[in-house]
Amino acid sequence: MKQYRLWLGAGLVSLGAVSSSCSKESPPPEPKPAAVAAAPEPAPEPPKPRMSYEKLVSFFRQSAAAKAAEAEAPADTPAQIALGRMLFFETRLSKNHDISCNSCHDLATFGVDGKATSEGHKGQKGSRNAPTVFHASGHIAQFWDGRATTLEEQVSGPMLNPAEMAMPDEKRILATLNSIPQYVKAFKDSYPRDKKPVSVTNAARSIAAFERKLFTTARFDKFLAGDESALTEQERRGLELFASSGCTTCHNGPSVGGTSFQKLGLIEEYPTDDKGRFDVTKNEEDLHKFRVPTLRNVEKTGPWFHDGSVKDLPTAVRLMAKHQLGMSFSDAEVDDIVAFLKSLTGELPGPEVLTPPELPPSTRTTPKPDPT
Ligand code: HEC
Ligand code: HEC
Repeated sequence: MKQYRLWLGAGLVSLGAVSSSCSKESPPPEPKPAAVAAAPEPAPEPPKPRMSYEKLVSFFRQSAAAKAAEAEAPADTPAQIALGRMLFFETRLSKNHDISCNSCHDLATFGVDGKATSEGHKGQKGSRNAPTVFHASGHIAQFWDGRATTLEEQVSGPMLNPAEMAMPDEKRILATLNSIPQYVKAFKDSYPRDKKPVSVTNAARSIAAFERKLFTTARFDKFLAGDESALTEQERRGLELFASSGCTTCHNGPSVGGTSFQKLGLIEEYPTDDKGRFDVTKNEEDLHKFRVPTLRNVEKTGPWFHDGSVKDLPTAVRLMAKHQLGMSFSDAEVDDIVAFLKSLTGELPGPEVLTPPELPPSTRTTPKPDPT
């Protein structure tokens, strides 16, 4: 690892590009770019740890704001979570009864479909990659452009999106749910004080309750909890480089991401037609900004980037270094970072979450599948 990299990373922090608990106390080392550039490649030797355990861990703490938001999150009841799980797998919430949330966010494959862009109603393709639903509850906002602030707000998006589940309107969603007595009962049990328990709001509320249970626990969590031996030598090296080079200015907090909107191509322009957050705010400053994705389970959530255009993890790391930090890593350094990223792969929850639940049968009045 060359000195100027650390300097660049620290420089980014001092620009105030993001709020994080970043290394303000570690002084930027002397920049010696000219000397470094002219020197022949030194023989590879494993760099000595430069960052203390406490410092490393500090990047992944929950911010005070996130803690407060979590404390304010509604208390989800077991009935709501169980209902949300059924709705997550419910294909009758799509126009042709062939697509559920799980079609594009397959829980058995870490909440993604493995495609560059997903196929919705009649095989139509969207323009963005489906992000994982695991750890989504920890994000400051939902979607690549953050157009939904909460999980609840996010839900009606895909149901009514003509290219996704393609329900024509909320009326059809309600007609479907009301036609199935077991659903009517499940909504009553979940929202006993509501006058009209079967509502799109409560459906969204239930799915969000279920999604708040979707997280994984990785070896990295043992490390965060105090077990320094939980990471191998190489993973630790990768983590140190991840932190010292400045990846943590954007990928920070417990989800290793999801805490801010950042420009893709911050240092070196990145070719993309997607205007990102600009489409939501119409603010020039938000052009090509995206909600930073979580890197938890990133090994399993490819292809990567908002358009699914990046097909392997080493390439994703190299592109990030180049476009977000203006750096280039050696092969060994990329290997180290990738090793660290793989330590973020967690264990999926058990069959009580992953296995599709038994869904109640349709009745005579249930709207029929509509392939048009
Ligand atoms: C046809 C595929 C498809 C279906 C069906 C679908 N999604 Fe998505 N989902 C996507 C795509 C693509 C995005 C990203 C879109 C964007 O950012 O503009 C997304 C984004 C999300 C996000 C935001 C995650 C994040 O990190 O920002 C959540 C949460 C989510 N979907 C949950 C659901 C739920 C719940 C359902 C069912 C009601 C559902 N999705 C149905 C493809 C799908
Ligand atoms: C200035 C903010 C910023 C910095 C610094 C940064 N990233 Fe990112 N990262 C992002 C954004 C924004 C995306 C989403 C890119 C997109 O939407 O196409 C992203 C995406 C990624 C992805 C793909 C995730 C996915 O699910 O598609 C990986 C892997 C990644 N970053 C790793 C890194 C590494 C490793 C570093 C340090 C070398 C780094 N990032 C530095 C903002 C940043």
